[in-house]
Amino acid sequence: MPYYFKLGDIPRKRHTQFRKPEGGLYSEQLVSTEGFSDAYSNTYHIYPPTLVTSVDEAYSVATEIAVVNNTQNRSFHGFSVAPGIDFISSRVPVLVNSDVYISLAAPQHSMKDYYRNASADELLFIHEGNGVLHTMYGEIPFGYGDHVVIPRGVTYRIEFKTEHNRLFIVESFTPFRFPKRYTNHSGQLLEHSPLCERDIRTPQNLVAHDEKGDFKVLIKKNDMIFPYHFATHPFDVIGWDGCHYPWAFSIHDFEPITGRLHQPPPVHQTLEANNFVMCAFVPRLYDYHPESIPAPYNHSNVDSDEVLYYVDGEFMSRKHVERGQITLHPIGIVHGPHPGAVEKSIGLKETHELAVMVDTFKPLKLTRQAMEIEEKEYYKSWIE
Ligand SMILES: [Fe+2]
Repeated sequence: MPYYFKLGDIPRKRHTQFRKPEGGLYSEQLVSTEGFSDAYSNTYHIYPPTLVTSVDEAYSVATEIAVVNNTQNRSFHGFSVAPGIDFISSRVPVLVNSDVYISLAAPQHSMKDYYRNASADELLFIHEGNGVLHTMYGEIPFGYGDHVVIPRGVTYRIEFKTEHNRLFIVESFTPFRFPKRYTNHSGQLLEHSPLCERDIRTPQNLVAHDEKGDFKVLIKKNDMIFPYHFATHPFDVIGWDGCHYPWAFSIHDFEPITGRLHQPPPVHQTLEANNFVMCAFVPRLYDYHPESIPAPYNHSNVDSDEVLYYVDGEFMSRKHVERGQITLHPIGIVHGPHPGAVEKSIGLKETHELAVMVDTFKPLKLTRQAMEIEEKEYYKSWIE
């Protein structure tokens, strides 16, 4: 999705001699996607990015599936996930399929080493905490409500400024992009898009680390972690340009679309990838037809599993919803407002709800850890 951007020093022509002040050549690296056929960036390193000294034994981080075929409405208490020391090991996968992994994490400390997901693009939704994403492209400060998008292959290190951090993590096996209807032929976000380029935060404060030593990069590929050791600092880039880089936007910058009658979830869409979409539900005015019903209608999701992650505020259609809670309304089962929610919603002028949604077009499997934080009776919660 991202537009062309450049940071730092780059040569006037690509693939030409670009010399350091003392005379040696900078090392050019093309980072390209879909072979050479989609977004790419050219980066310029102080040292070649290929200086591998050793690789430790790989270990599995494969998900443990508890329920393969789910046809039950479910709910999970995300804040029941125990905090963990490390950003990688604290990740708890809850809902997965071959397109997307949805995980929760409450890491307490900054990363010591570096990390690269070679299989999936990552989206970190920051529910609690703040800090800085460090990459070879520069830094992206983040905080409450941010979606931090890290394309696959980007080596990064997360620095937390806080100890109490809560993350909702979406790993996508295809790139995140804006819905086609939001963009013109050139990829520019159109006037009716709820986000625009000014809401997109690109890397900043590029610092080229001219350092030699032992730098460990945990490379995730096919549910395995491969601990690689490099002889030079992974963030030694003097400059780069292109359309492949990490970026961020805040849920608080998402401009809601409202109407006289209840608007369907696609008006809340932020991003999509192959076989799933993401939405943001933000504070907004309710429907203004004199006889409107602000609560959603009962809904048969014929061909998508619907995952809602509750962030903040009151949720008009649900009872007893807490921060960090997840609901899963799967393909084949009807869901709708809880008893009393429809009448209660009539006449309300606005909502302060904040939530993130992931709708997948293939069924989601439930992990062992998801079952440990499940509210077991949720599927019966429509009975008064
Ligand atoms: Fe629905």
